[in-house]
Amino acid sequence: MARVIVTSALPYAYSMPHLGNFVGSVLPADVYYKYLRMKGDDAIFICGSDQHGTPIELAALQKGVAPEQLADEMHAAIKSLYDKYECGFTHYGKTHTPENKEVVYSVFNELYRNGYILETEDMQAYCNVDKRFLPDRFIQGTCPYCHTKNARGDQCDNCGRLLEPGQIIDPFCVVCGKSDISFVKSKNLALDLTKLQDKIKAFIKENSKNNWSKDAVNKSLSMIKQGLKPRDITRNMKWGFPVPLAGYENATLYVWFDAVLGYIGITKEWDPKRWRDYWQNEHTQLVQFMGKDNTIFHSIMWPAMLIGSNLGFVLPYTLKISQHLTSKEVKFSKSKGVGLNMRNALEIMPADCWRFALMHSAPENADSEFTKEVLEETVNTILNDKIGNFVQRTLKLALANKALVEGGVVPSSEKKVAVELERYADAFDSLQFKKAVAALVGLAEQGNRIMSDREPWLLAKAAKNDAKAAKEAKDVLSSLIAITYALGVMLHPFTPEASKKLLAHFKVGGEPTLALLGKTIELDIEKEPHPLFAKLTQKELEKLQKYA
Ligand code: 2FM
Ligand code: ZN
Repeated sequence: MARVIVTSALPYAYSMPHLGNFVGSVLPADVYYKYLRMKGDDAIFICGSDQHGTPIELAALQKGVAPEQLADEMHAAIKSLYDKYECGFTHYGKTHTPENKEVVYSVFNELYRNGYILETEDMQAYCNVDKRFLPDRFIQGTCPYCHTKNARGDQCDNCGRLLEPGQIIDPFCVVCGKSDISFVKSKNLALDLTKLQDKIKAFIKENSKNNWSKDAVNKSLSMIKQGLKPRDITRNMKWGFPVPLAGYENATLYVWFDAVLGYIGITKEWDPKRWRDYWQNEHTQLVQFMGKDNTIFHSIMWPAMLIGSNLGFVLPYTLKISQHLTSKEVKFSKSKGVGLNMRNALEIMPADCWRFALMHSAPENADSEFTKEVLEETVNTILNDKIGNFVQRTLKLALANKALVEGGVVPSSEKKVAVELERYADAFDSLQFKKAVAALVGLAEQGNRIMSDREPWLLAKAAKNDAKAAKEAKDVLSSLIAITYALGVMLHPFTPEASKKLLAHFKVGGEPTLALLGKTIELDIEKEPHPLFAKLTQKELEKLQKYA
């Protein structure tokens, strides 16, 4: 039994996550965690809100509330949304907590003591009216390239170019609206990656054997090859953890610094005693899920912080990186609050169907395109026709022929189950989730084939006065029931609701486990089956247009 910490990149607490965010990190992490639990591993699943950062501070200013209040409100709303999607976090915490602060300060202090933190100096925008430094996003003005009026200090949304605040024409402060801005010298602190790069490289070479996404390895090693430079870990802003060092009162720790350490802080928030059993245990496997934009922070900065502080925390064992889910048909916009997000997606179909459809088209190794056609095909043909319909027919057949369904079945002694189950487990163990979906769909297809080749309803009819037919009918029904139970278990990580509904037809209690597939399982033949899924209608598909 392995001890595993599964993490998903901590979603920012400033807007509703959209489906692209979900499939990029939380969903595959949840799917994997559910599998590990079925396998019997000692696993915990840690995630939570990334609460610091400029967007929250800015939004709070504009709303006239404290950043902490806004971050906590958003945290509660986002958390309840993940509950609706059946995400089974061990703990969904947040970064702005005393527990996280303790972890962050202890790591900071050790890094400082060990000589890995140095001072940097640069020019920063300062508002003479508000008497405060202005983070890039707090400055707006005219874009030097396309001359749009409301370009932000870090980027122009009109032409998409990345900007520096100093480039903005006629800059003004978004807090007071005035243009009384100076650029003044400011001190910050940086993590000296130069001193740590050999150790980081050795760590990547060693651990990337454990199913790391190729993308993560290549990107990280090529960055190291170019030579790592010190990277700022403080910012001149107010919202965040104060820098625990005299002389930096104008700064807070950079959101990324406490976000990655949030994985530990949130575990501590979950259980103030047991967190160390996971994080300070050399046998723990730390398996981390994230979108590709977060790679470098996890492959370089985060290990650098862990290695440099030398507090005995485990280093990432696997980094599983998602590519992007893209769409020309709908908009997955996060920042503007429009588009198909995790909340309004539920108006189109239930969470289970989204979970399955997203994992079926997951951008696992390459970007993938979300289209109405693919969605319709996945939900209606695969989930409903191939899986739901097969299960429904089997259960109905059993109900109509109770005499032929005596005793139990051992699912894994059915050859087809054993073969697909092995494919499924191998796929999961190498973190290839689309292959796991394929194994499960493959098993349903084989069930459908038995159904159409052997026509068990005819055998059942003949069984009434023919012993040979009776034996054959029993065998075929046993196979179908074995496949049905196995599908119920294999569906659990992907469609937990449907899995529960299906497994309730069997006389087995508790959580589904892979071990149960090798035991004798009995069907509860008194229970009337109801469809596991519903098809998407044209009307529901048309609702997608709202998000075009
Ligand atoms: O990209 C994001 O949504 C970041 N909030 C991810 C942070 S990952 C980790 F540091 F927590
Ligand atoms: Zn101002």
